[in-house]
Amino acid sequence: MRAQLALYPGSFDPFTLGHLDIVERASRLFDRVEVTVAENTSKKTLLSLEDRRRLVTECTAHLANVTVCSFTGLLAEYAVRQGAGALVRGLRQVSDFEYEFRMAFANRRLAPDVETVFLMTSEQYALVSSSIVREIHHWGGDISSFVPPPVLRALKTAQGPGPS
Ligand code: PNS
Repeated sequence: MRAQLALYPGSFDPFTLGHLDIVERASRLFDRVEVTVAENTSKKTLLSLEDRRRLVTECTAHLANVTVCSFTGLLAEYAVRQGAGALVRGLRQVSDFEYEFRMAFANRRLAPDVETVFLMTSEQYALVSSSIVREIHHWGGDISSFVPPPVLRALKTAQGPGPS
């Protein structure tokens, strides 16, 4: 049975080519996909919630069945309110799995009717993560092979000390 609406939640700080790869895969599997940007106040983010939302919207504009929203609070409760049948999470490597496994079980306990679905990223993005992008950007390195063009443009104007 296929869920009508799938949420693809994350911090997206910033949205990477790996994230885009997962959204494209999810958009082929589900009728509708909502990229759900976490307000996530516990982490200090490089980009504001508004910028993260705007960039995900720009980067996914070519996908007709994809929308972008943000949420605060518990993801499972938000998913139920939205009427979502599935939560999509990307897996890059085995080391992602422990954290994802715990989160999927917690979300299932809170919302038993919402399935977590793991999608494997393309091999070329297996080592791409937002934290690696933030680190390279911090030191003024080239992130063009890690992020879509709108994110690259936005980060060029975002503060970073650059190489000394
Ligand atoms: O991109 P990230 O940082 O791995 O995304 C993690 C996110 C935002 C999906 C997760 O932290 C989350 O769902 N936060 C909201 C609070 C919540 O519901 N936590 C899950 C219960 S363990």
